[in-house]
Parts: sequence; C-alpha cells; structure tokens
Amino acid sequence: MNNEQEFLPIKSIDHVEFYVGNAKQAAYYYMTAFGFQPLAVSSLETGNRDNMSVVLRQNNITLVLTSSFLPDSPVSQHVRLHGDGIKVLALEVEDAARSFEETTKRGAQAYFTPREETDHNGTVHLSAIKTYGDTVHVFVDRSQYKGLFLPGFEKWEPDYRPTETGLRIVDHVVGNVDWGQMKTWAKFYEEVMGFKQLISFDDKDISTEYTALMSKVMTNGNFRVKFPINEPAHGKKKSQIEEFLDYYRGPGVQHLALHTHDILHTVPELRRRGVEFLTIPDAYYSHLLDRVGQIDEDIEELRQHNILVDRDEDGYLLQIFTRPLQDRPTFFVEIIQRKGARSFGKGNFKALFESIELEQERRGNL
Ligand code: FE2
Repeated sequence: MNNEQEFLPIKSIDHVEFYVGNAKQAAYYYMTAFGFQPLAVSSLETGNRDNMSVVLRQNNITLVLTSSFLPDSPVSQHVRLHGDGIKVLALEVEDAARSFEETTKRGAQAYFTPREETDHNGTVHLSAIKTYGDTVHVFVDRSQYKGLFLPGFEKWEPDYRPTETGLRIVDHVVGNVDWGQMKTWAKFYEEVMGFKQLISFDDKDISTEYTALMSKVMTNGNFRVKFPINEPAHGKKKSQIEEFLDYYRGPGVQHLALHTHDILHTVPELRRRGVEFLTIPDAYYSHLLDRVGQIDEDIEELRQHNILVDRDEDGYLLQIFTRPLQDRPTFFVEIIQRKGARSFGKGNFKALFESIELEQERRGNL
C-alpha cells in the first residue's frame, strides 16, 4: 500500500445520486431503458416529509434518484439551476470521519461533517466534501450496517421489473470544469484525495474543425475509481464542453461510463428499449481494422450498432455514447466493454466529436 492510499483508502464508488424533477418517473426511465432493478425507497410512505428518493441497482451499479416536495430546498434549487443532474458521487471508505479529516486538512471544503445514521439494521458513518461545481463526494462506511441501502430507506418491491441489460460496474465518471480549471481540479484529486494522474490529453490530441478540449484522467490507488476531468479549449466554434457548461450553468458530471461484458448484447437491448445513441459515419468502419488490428467482433455488426473500437498497449475496448438523457444537452451515458485496454478511447475522439457536432448544429449551438 502506498502513501496516497494510506491517507484516503477508497474501496469503490458506493452510489451515484441524481437530483431530478420527478424521482418516480426518472426511476421508471432507468428501470425501463437501462434495466436497473428496484431496491429501496424513501418517501412520504416511509416517513420522509421533504423528499422522495428511489434506489435502483444493476450488479455493482447503484443509482439514487431524488426529488423534493419543497420549492426552496437544496434539491429543488439544484434542479432549477442545473436541470436533472448528478449531485453526489459517493465513495465507500473504511472510515468516514478520517476521510473527512484527511481531505479537509488538505484543503477540501466540507459539505457535511461526519455523522452517524442508525436504524434496526445498524449504523452507517457518513461525511461529505465538495468537488467541482455543485457536485459533492459523500464518504460512506457501511461496515456496521446490514440494511439494503441507508437508514430511512425501505425495501421497494414493485411488480414492474424489466430485465437487466448486462451493465456491471461504473467504469469511470467524467466531470466538465470551467475554462482553465482542469489543472486545478486534477491537483485537487492528486493532493486532497491522493489520486494519481493516469492519462492526459491536450487540444492537439482532441480537436476537430470546431471542437477542442483538454482532459486529465485521475484514479485512486486500486484503480476502481477513475475520474477524467475535461475543460474546454478554443476551437473555431463552441465546443461540446462549452455547450454543457452553458446549459448545466456551470461545472458538473458530463457522463457515466457503465461497463458490460457483452456490448453486442447490451447495446441492441438498450436500443430496443428506447435509448438513443450517437451515430457514427460508415467511413469510420472502412479503416477500422487498419487502425485497431484483429478483433473478436464482426465489423459489420459493430457498424450496424455504431459501436466504436480503440486499441492501446494492453488490449482493446469497445464503446458507444448515448445522446443526452434529459431535456438539456448535458448528462449522457457511455457503454464500454474492455478487452484488456485500460485507456479511454482516444483514437475515437475525432469520429465521436464530429458526430456530437452534427447534433450541436441541429440544436443551434455550434
Ligand atoms: Fe468516457
């Protein structure tokens, strides 16, 4: 174990919480479209007078959807400003109080101080710090808790239960930060959270005729938590990162990448359930084998589903991106399958950004 892990040992991403306008309907969407399973709920029926929170799970991915009954609550204010979006990236740790102490003494701003929550299933220890924009990290120690999620939540067992789609784990979570702020936030993850920089891209790597961006990928000690940080760079016209910042009204989570063991099962299934993906020009597939070499999959099948491929020194990966999941052109999901590769699809950036630019143009935002 190295020094960084010693001051903030993170086990994994515990859960991801969205603040939304209508938690019940958002839950229906993530269940129907992505195959998340109902797990737990906190609502008027369970004694929550302020919020409704629905917890969904698929394998190791836990999503929480929260809306508020109160017009001026922090949840409602968040939704009014940002639209539906991710508020909490919760991290499972061994010691929530120590995680708070170690990060705040290194400069993190407190979101809430260490506290205990208890019910008949035991006790959960929690604390939280702020990160980019209005996004926060909640530290969760659930080692003394046997309940389904957190105290205050009850088991949710609706009859409606669409099948899973093969999504297994959160591969990475990308944050978009303001102009000139990428280094600041990479440094935050390095110095305050003990992360290391895995990869860095600049505008020479990632630019098309119109779009440019810069990115640094930060990871924790056991590589289970990977947070790429993007900032816009100057291009001819407005970049997709800038469009996000405009519509989200500031920095926030741009996408969640969800891992599947079988992308050729998962993607057609998601499509059948109404998930919309970015389309990739046919030309991308005519040169694919030259670029990535031999792969197990049938190119024709990949082309049909608009699945992208990239190779690095460790292997290759398959990936695809959805269109934005809410009214604003902000948050989206990436579906990824790794076959050895540990990188993030740099070879696909150009094809991908050209596809995003076509959509930006249709929105009048290029
Ligand atoms: Fe990604």
